[in-house]
Amino acid sequence: MNAKVRTAVLISGRGSNLAALIEAARDPAYPASIVLVVCNVESAPGLAVARDSGIPTRVIPHTEFDSREGFDDQIDLALRVAEVAIVCEAGFMRIHSDAFVRRWEGRLINIHPSLLPAFKGIRVHQQVLDAGVRVTGCTVHFMVSEVDSGPIIAQAAVPVLPTDTKATLSARVLEAEHRLYPEALHLLADGKVRLEAGKAVFA
Ligand code: GRF
Repeated sequence: MNAKVRTAVLISGRGSNLAALIEAARDPAYPASIVLVVCNVESAPGLAVARDSGIPTRVIPHTEFDSREGFDDQIDLALRVAEVAIVCEAGFMRIHSDAFVRRWEGRLINIHPSLLPAFKGIRVHQQVLDAGVRVTGCTVHFMVSEVDSGPIIAQAAVPVLPTDTKATLSARVLEAEHRLYPEALHLLADGKVRLEAGKAVFA
């Protein structure tokens, strides 16, 4: 069997997508392994998720840096030291410098809780409810400099019910996220999708 692709997950909070990725990677046949979790918030519950699974963590508080570049350089260093090949962002609440995104282009992916390009940014489920759409979902995409943009790797659709609140809708979308992110990482780690000339190309 080929060696698993060394993967890092960047988080800022709860870490439920991280947990889903760790669970998927436990399967010996899964092509990626989670070798590092980087977090910018010392009190993030997701750090315990990583530690409970014996995965090394690095806390890099953005507050300790004067510039986005300086913060990203530390993240980059941590990723290189751990010999990471793929970076998954899962609720990481900082915007990266262009240099960082370019350096990891094609190997840096993110999950967003809507069917992009609709409903970018924050308070996504409230945006969805306000717009009155009947279907929403989640998206895993290659990261580019523009936030919540970038070639799409995978999406899952989720119905919006007339009785939905932000809480019920986000819980339903989150379940879909936990299925979608491991599938998307599987595709990338297996070489079944790659970024080429700004487009996602599927093998
Ligand atoms: C998820 O909804 C993800 O799509 C968004 O932030 C949330 C992170 O949740 N980017 P968790 O920390 O993975 O539980």
